[in-house]
Amino acid sequence: MTDKQSMHIDPYEKNWIRLSIGLLVVFATAVTVAGFAFGFQVPTPEDRVDPRTVATEGPWADPGLRELVPGKKYEAYILAQTWAFLPNEITVPVGAEVTFYVTSKDVQHGFKLQDTNINMQIVPGQVSKLTVTFDEPGVHNFICTEYCGAAHAIMFGTLTVE
Ligand code: CUA
Repeated sequence: MTDKQSMHIDPYEKNWIRLSIGLLVVFATAVTVAGFAFGFQVPTPEDRVDPRTVATEGPWADPGLRELVPGKKYEAYILAQTWAFLPNEITVPVGAEVTFYVTSKDVQHGFKLQDTNINMQIVPGQVSKLTVTFDEPGVHNFICTEYCGAAHAIMFGTLTVE
């Protein structure tokens, strides 16, 4: 076998290689546009906590809203457990920028906040964090989106913007 023969690439294979590279370019473009033009955020694992003690120590021992800048900037510490969110009612003023820190003390849950781009997986031992600004008054339910047992379907809470 000569060098030339060993370098031969079948035309069909060449086309598949081209298609694969083209798809990578399309995906990279889609991710870039979603991230920078549409403000998509990836719910990064912000921190690690011990699920056995998270309900008794640290910010989730007293879950709820923290006011950083009155009327403007807030943090919401939410504890997910079978089958409820603590707290399950939150009220913020219009224009508030709220950063959610959500973790679980037992099994895996989900946290989807209706009419926003927040939809996070809540894994015990891990803190999921996302930020959203509420420009309009209204009511947003937050619901558990990962099956977590018998009463999964009734695991929800309400965020009111007023
Ligand atoms: Cu919690 Cu489903």
